[in-house]
Amino acid sequence: MTSRFSSERRDFLRQSLTGLSGLSLAAFPDLGRPESRKFKYGVVGTGFRSRLAHLPILRDHFPQIEVVAMADVTPANLAQGLKIYGNQNTRGYTDYRELLAKHPDLDAVLVVVPNYLHAEVGIAALESGKNVLTEKPIATSVADGQRMIATAAEHGRALQVGFQSRYATLYHKAAELIQQGAIGKLEMVFGCLFRGDWNPRSWQYTDPATGKSTNWRFLTRTEGSALLEDGIHELDVINWLVGVAPRRIQAQGGNSVWLDRETIDNAGVLVEYANGVRLNFGFSIFTPGTDDHSLLRFYGCEGELSFAEDGGKQYVVTQRFRSKAERIEVPHLLPEEEPVWKAATSERLASESGASTYRLHQAFLNSVSTNSPVFADGHVGLEAARLSLAAEHSLRTGNPVSWEEPL
Ligand SMILES: NC(=O)c1ccc[n+]([C@@H]2O[C@H](COP(=O)([O-])OP(=O)(O)OC[C@H]3O[C@@H](n4cnc5c(N)ncnc54)[C@H](O)[C@@H]3O)[C@@H](O)[C@H]2O)c1
Repeated sequence: MTSRFSSERRDFLRQSLTGLSGLSLAAFPDLGRPESRKFKYGVVGTGFRSRLAHLPILRDHFPQIEVVAMADVTPANLAQGLKIYGNQNTRGYTDYRELLAKHPDLDAVLVVVPNYLHAEVGIAALESGKNVLTEKPIATSVADGQRMIATAAEHGRALQVGFQSRYATLYHKAAELIQQGAIGKLEMVFGCLFRGDWNPRSWQYTDPATGKSTNWRFLTRTEGSALLEDGIHELDVINWLVGVAPRRIQAQGGNSVWLDRETIDNAGVLVEYANGVRLNFGFSIFTPGTDDHSLLRFYGCEGELSFAEDGGKQYVVTQRFRSKAERIEVPHLLPEEEPVWKAATSERLASESGASTYRLHQAFLNSVSTNSPVFADGHVGLEAARLSLAAEHSLRTGNPVSWEEPL
């Protein structure tokens, strides 16, 4: 019998292999030709993520893009977004549906609202013919993620999920080294995200049933799951580098410190992948979030691969058994991106996260302008979301979850 997950799994494998072989470190062509037309973007949600990353990066580094419209239900956030982008012609709306209706010629819409709205806003934008770059997670349920993918396919539009780590030069180098056999056959992965708590100034969701306002990251309805909100970046990189779908997921977790919220504050997740690779992943949001709060280590039958930072430089570190460790420096941006890097007025690019968000936008614009495949597409987004939701399901029920199991 063909399950409804079989085609997803094929897509998962295809995407993963594409990730390892098809998107090399030099995958992004020059998009900055002055004679080319401007691409018109709309931004829905002008909270912290938009204001700290997307809007300054688009403003400072993408002269070929014009953000012509923004929407946010919170007028103060909308005003701040408009001010940061600083283009007098950019129109503001408090209802994203009005933005979509009044700007039929947008090339793309960025979806940067709380997680439970990604599918609603993303599908509305796709149905009105826009390409969509949605923040992670793709959606708060597998069914909604599948609807996003189906709508993008039906309307022939690009759907990219905001996994900036997929565009980080560091992880592309790691993927290349693992594929070349630098550590032998991959057998185990250790990872963790021991970050601090969520931003206390995040948007407050008012529950229509009780009239009570709560940080949207504290409620299952609005966040989906804590692992879906964060930890999903690391889980996605692991999915990509392991290269096949998970087979079985088992997790424990709950609330050890933040007892007054629905969403968990810690978890331990064990995953067995279809090729036998085993993952051990730790997650917490009550720890202080020290410099090394996010770790990834890959163990092969002949050695191990990890990452290091030193003096603003980043390295992939490989060590084969009974040999000395080898540090390979990986630039944040590629040599051909250097002119943009040097012209940068924003300090935001001087970090792995800033540089990879810049590259994420570069890749999205490339897909939109050349109609070429998206790397961190809906399928990539759905598989990472499914893994996070499966872990959440396991820790809530106390039972292991198989990959084929409906969630
Ligand atoms: N990729 C990353 O590293 C990263 C980092 C932070 C956040 N994010 C993601 O970005 C998204 C937003 O997070 P944030 O930190 O900016 O949250 P936030 O609470 O700061 O901002 C959310 C914004 O959405 C607005 N909003 C709420 N409902 C709306 C609606 N119906 N229409 C229009 N606007 C609406 C709110 O007014 C607020 O301004 C989340 O999905 C989050 O997971 C991604």
